[in-house]
Amino acid sequence: MSTHFPATRMRRLRYHPALREMLVETALRREDFIAPLFVREGEGVRSEIPSMPGQYQHSVDTAIETARRWADLGLRAVLLFGIPDEKDDVGSEAWNEDAAVQRLTRLLKAELPGMLVITDVCLCEYTAHGHCGTLVERPDGGRDVDNDATLESLARTAVSHARSGADVVAPSAMMDGQVGEIRHALDAEGFGTTAILSYAVKFASSMYGPFRDAAESAPQFGDRRTYQMDPRAAGQAFREAEADLAEGTDLLMVKPAATYLDVIAAVKQRFDAPLAAYHVSGEFASIKAAARLGWLDEQGAATEVTAAIKRAGADLIITYFAEDLARWLDT
Ligand code: PBG
Ligand code: ZN
Repeated sequence: MSTHFPATRMRRLRYHPALREMLVETALRREDFIAPLFVREGEGVRSEIPSMPGQYQHSVDTAIETARRWADLGLRAVLLFGIPDEKDDVGSEAWNEDAAVQRLTRLLKAELPGMLVITDVCLCEYTAHGHCGTLVERPDGGRDVDNDATLESLARTAVSHARSGADVVAPSAMMDGQVGEIRHALDAEGFGTTAILSYAVKFASSMYGPFRDAAESAPQFGDRRTYQMDPRAAGQAFREAEADLAEGTDLLMVKPAATYLDVIAAVKQRFDAPLAAYHVSGEFASIKAAARLGWLDEQGAATEVTAAIKRAGADLIITYFAEDLARWLDT
């Protein structure tokens, strides 16, 4: 017998399908998923977003139907984004008690109490200029988002979501101090049990393009690099997460997800807090497009990427594949 013949043969672990299944370490569950839902004014609206096949802008009535279908599939959480009819400089529709997000939240709480309602708290969908807050003139003549003026708008928006029954508010504007300001406002208004999921580690990514079509929230000038993180400076992730935890966030988020697995792993290792990761629109659209061209198997690719995000350390995954994944888990 040859002395260099291997005693260890890893393939023996892969020979029987049952053993392969028994050794799975990362298994997806329906409870891992948060499904984004876009809601706008009107009635009977269900318009597909061209760059996000299978995702729709809904009005409140069709959104609740979709949420009901998701609940029947065993999904447990939705993340609401609103698209107003009227936009202005400060985004005041964001805290209108009768706007689509607030109305849908109330309806969801009444009709699907088992569903966790998370609301995105930002202003880019609501401002005419498409930036995530109120603008201010810079000393060099340019315009930028005014951090502290924006905090007040974000807090008002979060309180109005909580008043409608939101279980979790998710500030995504990347303003310094947004978590603390929102926590303080929620507590002052008697919403001590409303949780905060902060987009703590959010990069200025080219992967948000399809979302900006969906939410009609593309910046009308410039970009978001004075508030969102530079993808090449991920070393700031710990300080971002630390600041949000100190201000009272309950859950952390890293966004995007699939191209930031290293950041997810590092943040999870460093902090005890529950961690969400957002598999964003561009990451979703890339798989969809390749699958349409016959270049990728959609179920295989979507399942693998989602599992990779969980394996990296995400406890929760915000994904446009949530409904598909819930169906595929049965097969
Ligand atoms: C709003 C917001 C964005 C996303 C979630 N909340 C877009 C942005 O920052 O421009 C992106 C989600 C996605 O791409 O799926 N601040
Ligand atoms: Zn925004």
